[in-house]
Amino acid sequence: MSDSQADAKRAVGHAAAALVEDGMTLGLGTGSTTAFAIEAIGRRVRDEGLDVRGVPTSYAAERLARESGVPVVTLDEIGLDTLPTSRSPLDLALDGADEVGPALGLIKGRGAAHVREKVVASLAARFVVLVDASKEVERLGTQAPVPVEVLPFAEPAVARALRGLGAEATLRMGEKKDGPVVTDQGLWVLDARFDGIDDPAGLDVAIDGIPGVLGHGLFVGLATDVLVGGGEQVRHVVQ
Ligand code: A5P
Repeated sequence: MSDSQADAKRAVGHAAAALVEDGMTLGLGTGSTTAFAIEAIGRRVRDEGLDVRGVPTSYAAERLARESGVPVVTLDEIGLDTLPTSRSPLDLALDGADEVGPALGLIKGRGAAHVREKVVASLAARFVVLVDASKEVERLGTQAPVPVEVLPFAEPAVARALRGLGAEATLRMGEKKDGPVVTDQGLWVLDARFDGIDDPAGLDVAIDGIPGVLGHGLFVGLATDVLVGGGEQVRHVVQ
């Protein structure tokens, strides 16, 4: 990561932490940009006595939240069964993205946390996405592959089905371990590279319908806001 990209991510993370209000239940995303936000929220907890709690989207986010002093809760602990289904159980979810496209469609999951991230985003009244300007695209799928989390048993069948949808599908291999990347759920990730995605909503449903798929990193209709960092500036885009 270049210094200017790190500065942009830091500025966005700090702007996101400023959106947090006393008493909120948060979704805590995964990745290098959200890490700046989690650390900044932790500083507000320490310095201002901010009273918040967060549902982490990965073991990495959970560890960072604990180290930063942000109280961590599970979905069980926030009492989903007692809240009316019309009410969003999380006030605000914060998370990064690999691409932000038209209508705030996203590709996420470079860190292989996209399935938990989608669960958490879907429970939030407001889902704010934190990116530097390099993540903005005019058409989804032009820079990043769509990560698809699969049962190891089904991997060849899912890869074949993804090819049928027009993708080149590659099993994600570990950089610091031999063999496939294993997710927090103990599953594998196929990276499905499309040469641009014409119909994100249709593709979202089609990938979810492949047997053996746990979930994928195409997020359609979930983001409410995007904070875009470039240098010291942070631009706020609202859906
Ligand atoms: C984690 O699986 C991802 O969805 C990340 O949120 C995404 O890859 C963005 O990460 P960075 O903030 O590190 O670019």
